[in-house]
Amino acid sequence: MVNVAIMGHGVVGSGVAEVLLKNSELIAKKAKNEIRIKHILDLRDFPEIPYSDLFTKDFNDIISDDDVKVVAEVMGGLHPAYEFTKQCLMAGKSVVTSNKELVATYGAELLALAEENNVNYLFEASVGGGIPVLRPIAQCLAANDLYEVEGILNGTTNFILTRMISDGMSFEDALKMAQDLGYAEKDPTADIEGHDACRKICILAALAFGKHVYPNSVYTEGITKITSADAAYADFADCAIKLIGHAKLLDDGKCTVAVYPAFVSRKNQLAHVNDVFNAITVKGDAIGNAMFYGPGAGKLPTASAVVADIIDCVKHLHARKYLSWDDCDADYIADHRKDTVRMYVRLGYTGERPAVIESITSLFGQIKVLGRQGEPSDELAFITPFASEEAIFSQLGTLKNCQVLSTLRMLD
Ligand code: HSE
Repeated sequence: MVNVAIMGHGVVGSGVAEVLLKNSELIAKKAKNEIRIKHILDLRDFPEIPYSDLFTKDFNDIISDDDVKVVAEVMGGLHPAYEFTKQCLMAGKSVVTSNKELVATYGAELLALAEENNVNYLFEASVGGGIPVLRPIAQCLAANDLYEVEGILNGTTNFILTRMISDGMSFEDALKMAQDLGYAEKDPTADIEGHDACRKICILAALAFGKHVYPNSVYTEGITKITSADAAYADFADCAIKLIGHAKLLDDGKCTVAVYPAFVSRKNQLAHVNDVFNAITVKGDAIGNAMFYGPGAGKLPTASAVVADIIDCVKHLHARKYLSWDDCDADYIADHRKDTVRMYVRLGYTGERPAVIESITSLFGQIKVLGRQGEPSDELAFITPFASEEAIFSQLGTLKNCQVLSTLRMLD
């Protein structure tokens, strides 16, 4: 029998306990060992829960218990999760986690610490909720030179955008629904401002390209500025609006990493990923494109990934999974605005429409003008031809009698 501890009994932690208890026989067969929850750490009281005798408020009960071989850190946030994880690894306990903030910030250091102490630090649940994606990148695609990763990485914002666009729901109502369903972070700002997706693309880029990417080096834009007008123009252009995390390895060994809402062509599979679902496309020299799709958030899908990591640790109590990446140099992240893109632009203008279109065309070349029902007469939306994002913004800045209301990248 192997004893495990769970740190945190929130949405994910309670799901981990539920899955371990409900599927205990099946899990024991797969792990070739019975897995017993010995401690659950949480500062709150849970008197009504059948396993209430397992709760402790004292981390020392876990760290000083030599019988505990695997710890699930599902408390979230950086502190004290960072200190607790370090202590567990140094005490020879493997740690599994869904905590993307911690992995994205301290992943290189914690992986090195796991290696020094001959234990595992696994975090499949930190990206894509229940979708198996990190292990496939690290193991199944190991033969590839991976050069690009892109996807819909946040269930809450995808749920909100889907409800707004398909059901005409307000942003606030859709966010409340996502929170009630247990998808959102404790502070939903991390979801709607793109920070959660940023942490996930950092982890994906680190795993795919072998170097740590720090969240504070990544351009991150959320969905709070998206309006119903933008959604209507997207529909006209046969696109959906999605929050995209994108990472690309460049020829000089640097990489661009960014998070932004984009017009995604309905010819692209990502446009059809709706509700809380996530999808991640990975590009490699041998595989071409591979896509991973599934539930990106929620109690049991996330618990499914955490428990799978616990099983993996139990099966490899005396062996390492060799999951690691190096720290990066200060100039590793290149400027994403040098990327060649097409952009959706919505302007307010004064003057004659044909003259405005002519001046825009003379700047950009052939543009595609969009329309929407109820379009105000002083509004113009269009899609630029390909150019660097930097050049597009600089040209937009020279337009006279125009005010830029929205800009979004196009994803074909
Ligand atoms: N808040 C996250 C999301 C949870 O909505 O995707 C899963 O990481």
